[in-house]
Amino acid sequence: FRTLDHLSPAGKRVLLRADLNVPVRDGRITDTTRIDRVIPTIIELADKGAQVIVLSHFDRPKGQVVPHMSLAPIAEMLESKVQHRVYFQNSCIGPEAESAVDRLRDGEVLVLENTRFHAGEEANDAEFTAMLARHGDFFVNDAFSAAHRAHASTEGLARHMPSFAGRLMEAELNALSAALELPDRPVGALIGGAKVSTKLDLIGNVLGKVDTVFIGGAMANTFLAAEGISVGKSLQEADMHETARRIVVEAREKGCEIILPVDAVIAREFRENAPSEVCLIGEVPPDAMILDAGPRTVELIEARLTQLKTLVWNGPLGAFEIPPFDAATVAVAKAAASLTQEGKLKTIAGGGDTVSALRHAGVADRMSYVSTAGGAFLEWLEGKILPGIAVLTDAAQHVAPL
Ligand code: 3PG
Repeated sequence: FRTLDHLSPAGKRVLLRADLNVPVRDGRITDTTRIDRVIPTIIELADKGAQVIVLSHFDRPKGQVVPHMSLAPIAEMLESKVQHRVYFQNSCIGPEAESAVDRLRDGEVLVLENTRFHAGEEANDAEFTAMLARHGDFFVNDAFSAAHRAHASTEGLARHMPSFAGRLMEAELNALSAALELPDRPVGALIGGAKVSTKLDLIGNVLGKVDTVFIGGAMANTFLAAEGISVGKSLQEADMHETARRIVVEAREKGCEIILPVDAVIAREFRENAPSEVCLIGEVPPDAMILDAGPRTVELIEARLTQLKTLVWNGPLGAFEIPPFDAATVAVAKAAASLTQEGKLKTIAGGGDTVSALRHAGVADRMSYVSTAGGAFLEWLEGKILPGIAVLTDAAQHVAPL
């Protein structure tokens, strides 16, 4: 694919797909990471004299105009972070959007309203795509976190316009390739989370690519129970035992080592500061539940991390939102961060929960790379082809007329 290094944007209208789908609570933006991470691309284009027209979805309005899903407050936040004029237009298509684009001068930025206010966006409708395409001479996609959606502004535009990857997209793709495609070995994957069923494709894909898989979170309970080990009242999926056993056999055949917890933090209640104790796996009382990995497991993982060159991390090791069951996730995150800072380990992390967990541990900025993506990062780890990326690669060769 082509990057901004291959584009001369001076005096041109550049249609930039960003992912400004930031978390908002009570009308306030609670995390500006996605805005912050797309800003270098906006500034670079504007500094080079482009007219930058920003497109994004926000939330899931399902083709309707939903006022509290407007991008207006996000455009305002964007303006406070760049040294360029930022305008906002309350529709992304139609005559008003077109005149707003016409008024734009070199080095200025225009944010257009939520693309998902139109059904054509998610339908990847040709007519809607053409209306968007009219705004620009070039298309730059910087929304890796929306690349798993084959929508008009992610996939459609790239098929019909000369297209380029933005700086964030470029960084995400380079990090992902350093993680699984051409990693420094040995490489490990730390996979946590509640359910095996939601991570099956992911595990299946990484087994053939990594040397070690650490399994944590309630998912690990399913693996333990599948081996006939009692996990008391812990969350686990009885209908996934057969699958879990198959995964273990497959891993062995592929020379990949699976590491499961050897001890656990257990409690009788699932609430903050519930009385808890540590016990060995195999000794979980029938009325207790596993809510975190125990200290021996943490030591085991930490020791193994020192033998790795690359770590891909998706999912917490325990119920990290509820102290004290965040201890294992925090300890391992800190250990991985230290090794990363010492230049001994390359750590690539992603997925909504994972990023919150790393932030909770205070080390999100001490990993080699933390993806801005949730679902797209997961789908990529599952080995799926992301439509927004596939088309960018094709687009370097061929632009189809609308
Ligand atoms: C995300 O937050 O993962 C992306 O912005 C995609 O959002 P979606 O799941 O609503 O398509």
